[in-house]
Amino acid sequence: MKVDPWNVSGDIDYEKLIKEFGTEKIDKKLLERIKKHTGELHYFLKRGIFFSHRDMNWVLDEYEKGSKFYLYTGRSPSGDMTLGHLIPLIFTKWLQDKFGAELLFQFPDEEKFLFKDNLTFKDTEHYLHENMLDVIALGFNPKKTKFLIDTKHATAMYKPACMIAKKITFSTAKAVFGFDNSNNLGQIFYTAMQSVPAMLPSYLKGKNIPCLIPYAIDQDPHFRITRDVLPKLGYYKPAAIHSVFLPPLTGPGGKMSASDKLSAIYLTDDEKTVKKKIMKYAFSGGKPSIEEHRKLGGNPDIDVSYQWLRFFEEDDGKLKKHYNDYKNGKLLTGELKQILIDKLNKMLKEHQIKRKKAESKINEFIYRA
Ligand code: TRP
Repeated sequence: MKVDPWNVSGDIDYEKLIKEFGTEKIDKKLLERIKKHTGELHYFLKRGIFFSHRDMNWVLDEYEKGSKFYLYTGRSPSGDMTLGHLIPLIFTKWLQDKFGAELLFQFPDEEKFLFKDNLTFKDTEHYLHENMLDVIALGFNPKKTKFLIDTKHATAMYKPACMIAKKITFSTAKAVFGFDNSNNLGQIFYTAMQSVPAMLPSYLKGKNIPCLIPYAIDQDPHFRITRDVLPKLGYYKPAAIHSVFLPPLTGPGGKMSASDKLSAIYLTDDEKTVKKKIMKYAFSGGKPSIEEHRKLGGNPDIDVSYQWLRFFEEDDGKLKKHYNDYKNGKLLTGELKQILIDKLNKMLKEHQIKRKKAESKINEFIYRA
């Protein structure tokens, strides 16, 4: 298994990641504590889709003392967004609503320019626009959400980035990211830019404000550095909460990749495309023949349609029924696929309408110093 900010491959063992990365598992006690404030638990928490954290108890201690945290997350504009990208964002919106939190949303539009051979700034500009529409469509509160775009807001970000960069040696960057002499200078500097939003409000206000960062676990190497450096500059370590990856359509394990067109469903895909991709490519946990499937049942734990329903069917009762019906052979793979197709198409249709309306709202969301 390989999990870093630019590569995720192999069968991912999340328990092992908790150990290797040195994070903490989200346990019952923490869930209860969150529930005390939110009233109900998001199904991502109940189902272990958000499974790991750093310093959540500290951020709640502060919150209970009246020191409210802000949220920070982001998206590197390098392509069209997929269903997989939604997971941390849906959860961030829930946290914003439940805790009334401000959100700094970073679009590091230089990141993939620096890391990909064939991506130009013209491309990133295009994807930045497209991705902003998707993010706005998710319903973030425009009064409490600000988009920080690295090349646009460089003036506000560069000093803090340099303060951070000064505390990171090349040998740390090598050890954390596996860099070597072939990496370009921009790549080596980039992690400083991703740390900036974790301190920017505190830096500007001249007082420490707690920060909570929701992200898919592959981003953790960046934030290990952030947490190491910020206290050296007199700031709090940001807290973090981590999600698993949405598995790719084509395999039981791993991560959906936007660059593997077959394994991904895009937020702009139409009904027919969604249906075609799922019917054709969704990895099945079913038996080779209908007779066998009826008799022995399917395996929902490896079936990608069922796995995806865990991420997108919010009703626990319905999900459980699909699980049981598939496991005891009452539901065939094709039928389970159709349930997923209907669910996703309904969701995407609503998203695409909101996305169109988002066009006129972009300005409201852009950070202003
Ligand atoms: N590096 C992330 C990406 O590749 C984008 C990002 C920037 C981010 N800041 C973040 C993601 C904070 C999560 C949290 O898309």
